[in-house]
Amino acid sequence: MRAIVQDRYGPSSVLRVDELPLPTPAAGEVLVRVVAAGVDRGVWHLMVGRPYPLRAVFGLLRPKQRVPGLDLAGVVAAVGPQVERWSVGDAVFGIGRGTYAQFACARADKLARAPANLRLERCGVLAMSGLTALQALRDATAVKAGERVLVLGAAGGVGHFAVQLARALGAHVTGVCSAEKLDFVRSLGAHAVLDYRRDDFAAASQRFDAIIDIAGNAPLARLRRALAPRGRVAFVGGENGGEWTFGLERQLAGALLSRFGTQRFVPFLAHEDGADMAQLAARVDSGELAPHVERVFALEDAPRALAELEAGRVRGKFAIALPAE
Ligand SMILES: NC(=O)c1ccc[n+]([C@@H]2O[C@H](COP(=O)([O-])OP(=O)(O)OC[C@H]3O[C@@H](n4cnc5c(N)ncnc54)[C@H](OP(=O)(O)O)[C@@H]3O)[C@@H](O)[C@H]2O)c1
Repeated sequence: MRAIVQDRYGPSSVLRVDELPLPTPAAGEVLVRVVAAGVDRGVWHLMVGRPYPLRAVFGLLRPKQRVPGLDLAGVVAAVGPQVERWSVGDAVFGIGRGTYAQFACARADKLARAPANLRLERCGVLAMSGLTALQALRDATAVKAGERVLVLGAAGGVGHFAVQLARALGAHVTGVCSAEKLDFVRSLGAHAVLDYRRDDFAAASQRFDAIIDIAGNAPLARLRRALAPRGRVAFVGGENGGEWTFGLERQLAGALLSRFGTQRFVPFLAHEDGADMAQLAARVDSGELAPHVERVFALEDAPRALAELEAGRVRGKFAIALPAE
């Protein structure tokens, strides 16, 4: 099969196309013929090997997993031992291992049936960013109808799902992004939009019940000012948090503040859960959620896709399309 491989950490130029043998699904896994794979910050972090503590798990000197890619959508091509849920031919999406390849293995419990009314190409960007948005709103900040929600980083992969899901939950949504992407965030259903270079979200006349903090690394004092007395913040991401600590100090200070006040600052890590993926699919089928795929790249253009993601050129998501032959 054709696949992207990387033998060392580094910029997108470390990625190249190669021919590899088909992977074999282990117990509890299936082999998926990949139709599309999502491009996200998780893949980028594993490509560059930063923040550095990642390397302790994913390979000290070089990546243990040579083929990048986490998100996938495709068709089950073979079923490993102890898998009852899936059969050959099922159209699925979810999270696998090495999905920038024509075939990839995935755990059976990290997949869901692809939504009926969405092309597989678009399903390939749904799992990672969609789960993150869903769990940040539902579990970390428990957003309820009528509440005011602020999404920092509203135009990106996670953010564009968060805006749509918060809206579907019945919240009043304010999205923060750059000036060029304000219209896009409005089109997702945000009631209000703010340009992070010009507007101060903490100066808004009404305070927010929940903040989904995906980008920008706003100082805690600013988040506190923007937050209602019983408001909640989910720390989802932020790319300038440092190459060693990854902004952990802000999260630790937030955890400390949560112990002494009524505002809650919640460190957040998404979990790869097939049941939640099925919820995302149901919301796609009901019309509440639609992945925005800004551009589809061919497999050999995966390095360009990651470079453009890093440069901030994406609205919503990029996808990689895998050739059938
Ligand atoms: N905790 C978890 O489990 C988890 C899961 C998934 C992702 N993440 C993290 O979440 C972060 C975002 O991921 P993503 O896939 O959504 O990335 P992405 O697609 O690159 O989106 C990031 C967005 O942030 C915006 N942005 C940059 N500076 C900002 C600021 N000061 N205020 C508001 N928005 C700003 C960018 O807008 P412009 O391009 O307009 O500047 C861009 O649209 C990353 O740090 C990622 O590692 C965490």
